[in-house]
Amino acid sequence: MSDTTLVIFGASGDLTQRKLIPALYNLQRKGRLPAGLRILGFARRPWDDAEFRAQLRAGLEQFAPRDFDAARWEAFAAAVTYFRGDLNTPADFELLGQKLAEVEGGAADANRLYYLATGPEYYGPVAAGLGAAGLAQEAGAPENGSRGGWRRLVIEKPFGRDLESAHALNRELHAAFQERQVYRIDHYLGKETAQNILFFRFANTIFEPVWNRNYVYSVQITVAESVDVGHRAGYYDQAGVLRDMFQNHLLQLLTLVAMEPPASFNADAVRNEKVKVLHAIRPIPVEAVAQHTVRAQYRKYRDAPGVAPGSQTPTYAALRLHVDNWRWQGVPFYLRSGKSLSSKSTEIIVQFRRPPHVMFNFAPGHRLSSNTLSICIQPDEGIHLRFEAKVPDSAQDTRSVDMDFHFRDSFGENALPDAYERLLLDALNGDASLFTRGDEIEAAWRIIDPVLKGWESPHAPPLHFYESGSAGPAEAEAFIARDGRAWLSGCGH
Ligand code: BG6
Repeated sequence: MSDTTLVIFGASGDLTQRKLIPALYNLQRKGRLPAGLRILGFARRPWDDAEFRAQLRAGLEQFAPRDFDAARWEAFAAAVTYFRGDLNTPADFELLGQKLAEVEGGAADANRLYYLATGPEYYGPVAAGLGAAGLAQEAGAPENGSRGGWRRLVIEKPFGRDLESAHALNRELHAAFQERQVYRIDHYLGKETAQNILFFRFANTIFEPVWNRNYVYSVQITVAESVDVGHRAGYYDQAGVLRDMFQNHLLQLLTLVAMEPPASFNADAVRNEKVKVLHAIRPIPVEAVAQHTVRAQYRKYRDAPGVAPGSQTPTYAALRLHVDNWRWQGVPFYLRSGKSLSSKSTEIIVQFRRPPHVMFNFAPGHRLSSNTLSICIQPDEGIHLRFEAKVPDSAQDTRSVDMDFHFRDSFGENALPDAYERLLLDALNGDASLFTRGDEIEAAWRIIDPVLKGWESPHAPPLHFYESGSAGPAEAEAFIARDGRAWLSGCGH
């Protein structure tokens, strides 16, 4: 492979220190990075290379102390340099171009990965700045068979704050870059347990035959967080849980569970199927938003610095969605997520139908539980299958039991890398399967937009409140109980 430079915009920020550098360092430790990879940090601070490296080293020691090794760090840091520049100054992109040509030694086939670890307000301007300075232009056009000289742009979330702004941002990006050059991050897709969903479904034969409306009674996706909004209140108060978690992470998990098998594991084949699922989701009408959603806020939220007085921003939501296609017709998908809850847990529960006929003579009141398959995304990563077993030494009593798979038992305690390792490596290798395509992101906004609008309309459900450290608002229980169902939990035991 030709030489590659990774340019990190927003290099003095939290994401670079906390996630990107530890991931790159670990990839290098494992020998996975392309030989000769250079890392160039772009930020406004008046640092030189040594100061920048010191800053990154401190981050690594703080956020990934287990992996840190001084000698290894020195070898890694030798490839790290700093460029002082301002994202608002077009001339700085010209200077960046000169700097890149200098570090690349003028090699025409040198590759560049531009990583936008900046605030979202810079995504459009940086793409435009790169375009105007001729830095988006691929040197040896890959479509003509030349492998070198590629330019790729990695973009963090949030990608827009509604359909219109996401569409506008896509247009801005496409003015400088082609879609195949753009890699939009949803870090949930970099989680091994999320990637494993497709392997679980399509590398086995026994699950797919029951993965449909004939056997599945409901699907529940829960992303519970114990952290509160912390120092991000300024951003969060403008976003809220739907934009922060549902438009991206929860809908991405839903597509992995609901999609049809692609013919191949290539980026477009996979993403085509995900887009089809998003298009099949029935939009919630604005006037019916109270029947299909719950919104709530943890009680202390308004005390956080940066939160507007009397803020109506929800920190918790529950949604019922329907996927209108042959596979899923009539199967509700319940999604919920919130902050400041009792524990952190991301799980997907596929609840199967009860047996059609019960031949046993159970004691009065004894009801068979439905079988459930729990995909435990985090923590306690694994998969649990719950089914009924005969209670020994009873005539006809049953109890639910679990068959468990845990990644740590099968693959070792530290087998699961951080999501950013996979994503950075894939972007460097040109594999976009785990990145969100432009049309996919817009399709997701098409589902979230009417709910956001409904919540700002007279049809909005009341904003409920819940205690920090609780399981969430009581209304979420009542919401699902009205469908004759209950939230299930199958992981973490
Ligand atoms: C981010 C959200 O995308 O995901 C945060 O902006 C949230 O609010 C985080 O806390 C959750 O990620 P994880 O990997 O901890 O589940």
